[in-house]
Amino acid sequence: MYSKQSPHIITLQKGEETYICQCGKTARAPLCDGSHKQVASVRPLIYKADKDLSLAICGCGKSDHMPFCDGSHNK
Ligand code: FES
Repeated sequence: MYSKQSPHIITLQKGEETYICQCGKTARAPLCDGSHKQVASVRPLIYKADKDLSLAICGCGKSDHMPFCDGSHNK
């Protein structure tokens, strides 16, 4: 999941809900594919958009604000 040097960009519409992987085992990064069931106590982040927006999800694994990109991939 953290094999990129840039973020994954996902676009959501107001009211849309998405499940962001937090276990790192998903095969469809950055979204959950149910792989967390192999890792006890790790669950996806459920994010519900309060407006139309784009999210930058960390693809490098260096962010201090997981699962979101904080620009650390540029360091
Ligand atoms: S992609 Fe990891 S901090 Fe931006």
